[in-house]
Amino acid sequence: MTLNNTTQITTIERHILDQQHHYPDASGALTNLLYDLALCGKIIASKVIQAGLMDVLGKTGGENVQGEEVQKLDEFADETIYKLNDHTGRLAVMGSEERPDIIPIPPKYKTGKYVLLYDPLDGSSNIDVNVSVGSIFAIYRRKTPEGSPGTLADCLQPGKELIAAGYIIYGSSTMLVYSTGNGVHGFTLNRMLGEFLLSHPDIKMPAKPKFYSVNQAYEPFWSPGVLRYVRYLQTGEGEPEKLGLSLRYIGSLVADFHRNLLGGGLFCYPADRKDPKKTGGKLRLLYEAAPLAYLAEQAGGYATDGRQRILDIEPTSLHQRVPLFIGDKNLCLKAEQYIKKFDGPGA
Ligand code: AHG
Ligand code: MN
Ligand code: MN
Repeated sequence: MTLNNTTQITTIERHILDQQHHYPDASGALTNLLYDLALCGKIIASKVIQAGLMDVLGKTGGENVQGEEVQKLDEFADETIYKLNDHTGRLAVMGSEERPDIIPIPPKYKTGKYVLLYDPLDGSSNIDVNVSVGSIFAIYRRKTPEGSPGTLADCLQPGKELIAAGYIIYGSSTMLVYSTGNGVHGFTLNRMLGEFLLSHPDIKMPAKPKFYSVNQAYEPFWSPGVLRYVRYLQTGEGEPEKLGLSLRYIGSLVADFHRNLLGGGLFCYPADRKDPKKTGGKLRLLYEAAPLAYLAEQAGGYATDGRQRILDIEPTSLHQRVPLFIGDKNLCLKAEQYIKKFDGPGA
């Protein structure tokens, strides 16, 4: 890294502390929780980059609560996030995509006022082939009184109650992207310093979308509304100018979201009539859709399940799935119009 007189270096620690000034009553617990998550990101990144060398590739042989094969790195990431956060006194309860039930704080430790929900390794089926993966986190204020163990009710909150969310992407570089409600900020890990440095302040989705991301192989199983909508993305029918979108699909939500956040566009994972597990979508409301929807809106974008704003959905279960259209605001609102028009008003 080259420095000159005008180079201003902002570490993530300093940035998080500065953000705390927006909240005069802040106790510092959220600030420290975010530091801890940045540290989790560094630990997981150090394992991910050695994936071909150490015995960390491949499956554990087990299945998670969703019936998906668990990768060794899924388990490592899950344990890392759990272990760094179970004893700090900042959390009331946690929830992980990899665990069937809520994760209580062990009784020997104090509980705190926040709730942490996380997808420890998103896109993990891509890890063996060196494709970007990531960790997603969502932070809520607890609903139950402080001093008692956290409960399921603390975890089942709509995304509009989020107080912070973000992700760490393990790609050609490792980046942490987060928001506490004052814009979206991106940091790149400088491996020599071992620090996340501010590289993308106040990210806004580009006004002109460039990409759409969808698994087109499921097209035969989409509803008429989704089918017509994706045709619209391809042809721009009814628009004065061609949309001119290109298709990009990695199959790691974090990586697809990140590209569209910086480059402009939207990601769709619609409901799919073929697979009974995906009739309500594949992606998980609490661990994937809601935190990324919060970031999308903070960056001037939007997220919908095709009928309503993701952040307004009241969760009814920990591993609830939702259809997801996320990214460019106008294109996501168009999805709502097409689905209403061609699939009917819905339930
Ligand atoms: P996870 O690895 O956390 O289970 O998530 C996988 C998800 C998501 O990252 C991606 O967008 C989607 O699965 C891809 O699914 P398809 O292979 O069906 O396209
Ligand atoms: Mn995931
Ligand atoms: Mn995962």
